[in-house]
Amino acid sequence: MGFYSEKILPYLLDWSLSDPKIAAYRRSLLAEVQGEVLEIGFGTGLNLAYYPEQVEKVITVDPNPGVHALAQKRIQSSPITVEHRLLGSEHLPMADHSFDSVVSTFTLCSIPGVEQALQEIHRVLKPGGRFFFVEHGLSKEPNIQVWQNRLTPLQKIIADGCHFNRNIRQLVENQFSTVTIEEFYGEGLPKLAGYLYRGIATKAA
Ligand SMILES: C[S@@+](CC[C@H](N)C(=O)[O-])C[C@H]1O[C@@H](n2cnc3c(N)ncnc32)[C@H](O)[C@@H]1O
Repeated sequence: MGFYSEKILPYLLDWSLSDPKIAAYRRSLLAEVQGEVLEIGFGTGLNLAYYPEQVEKVITVDPNPGVHALAQKRIQSSPITVEHRLLGSEHLPMADHSFDSVVSTFTLCSIPGVEQALQEIHRVLKPGGRFFFVEHGLSKEPNIQVWQNRLTPLQKIIADGCHFNRNIRQLVENQFSTVTIEEFYGEGLPKLAGYLYRGIATKAA
């Protein structure tokens, strides 16, 4: 991992993802999270403040030590115990059927092996367990898609692998048979990066 990804990008991510409008999406998504919880792509810990009171511990994964260094203040001032693993979510060391809830916010865009990560999420969920996500991705509008496809190669360089043009619905539905998703442009966000997919996928019981 290079100097830019580890030392500079974490500050840019933290700043851009701290927007109060994005916080509202975090809060509404996380309201129903319960039980044993895994968060993938924990980043700088921006979700911590929005877990419901009954969540006492979250296991987290993220391969970038720079974002985790920046998460320390939030972890220390949170009542939630965070058990962090410095790794990508394509190969999770957790046993099958370990979690009631898995959470991902603005992360599926950046995971190099996103299909494999979704297989792992499905594997580690208990039967009946739920995957909670809010992600940006491919717009429904063809004229926006054109720019998302054109600018993704540049975005991958600037934002450490982030794609504008992933079809999050298709990716999640390929792995889970029961999925509810809303698609909309995030309020105040540029269309290129602001087409959001918010949903819950449930593993068959
Ligand atoms: C745009 S940031 C989002 C951070 C956080 N989820 C949030 O909502 O603020 C994307 C995160 O995905 C992480 N990431 C990149 N590759 C990953 C992988 N293979 N597995 C898990 N997380 C990964 C990055 O290190 C970064 O922290």
